[in-house]
Amino acid sequence: MMPRLAIAPSILAADFAALGGAVRAIEQGGAELVHVDVMDGHFVPNISIGIPVVESLRKATRLPLDVHLMIQAPERYVDAFADAGADSLIVHQEGNYHLQRLLASIRHRNLGVGVAINPATPVATLAEVLGEVDVVLVMSVNPGFGGQKFLPGSLGKMRRLHELREREGYKFRIQVDGGVALDTVPDIARAGGEIFVAGTSVFHEPDPAEAVRRLRQSALDALAQRV
Ligand code: DX5
Ligand code: ZN
Repeated sequence: MMPRLAIAPSILAADFAALGGAVRAIEQGGAELVHVDVMDGHFVPNISIGIPVVESLRKATRLPLDVHLMIQAPERYVDAFADAGADSLIVHQEGNYHLQRLLASIRHRNLGVGVAINPATPVATLAEVLGEVDVVLVMSVNPGFGGQKFLPGSLGKMRRLHELREREGYKFRIQVDGGVALDTVPDIARAGGEIFVAGTSVFHEPDPAEAVRRLRQSALDALAQRV
């Protein structure tokens, strides 16, 4: 079972010529997941990495690979990413006409099932699938690039998801992605965020392992103050 709080460093911000070292550093920092941003230049205006990198990462770490598919027609790649070693696949609500079938195909491969919503997409659009996912990923930036500013409107979406889950007894975890850093983590934690995707605030730091520890401590401190 996924630990309540998790830090998921996004390798998009890492040095792609030294991904092995990047992953070892976040392992030392106690990261629970490796967040892998796959971009095709169509669903988002950027191209990043794909299946060969997931295959290499699979050999480089035992950490779960949390693959975020920012691509068109992700249904065509579920098997390929599963075979490459992904542990969870996050697909977007946007642009996937047959979302329930797509999520079921990920479940069929025994992977963690995640659905993401962009900043302009209401939580209500997920009403019919919240019972079928392990993770709801609230995008707190418009997807495509690291290093963007956190959009505070995401906090209300996390609160709404938290209330919905408590009221309806759903099991999904709330994951947040984009502009997650020491200055935004406390509000995110208090709003119900549990899995923190962090790229720049980890890999652009001199000591990524220490950055992971600090992000976690910041979330724990915020939750401790809340009670
Ligand atoms: C953006 C990606 C994010 C991004 C986070 O499209 O989905 O995972 O890499 O990067 P930072 O933490 O730098 O905002
Ligand atoms: Zn991502």
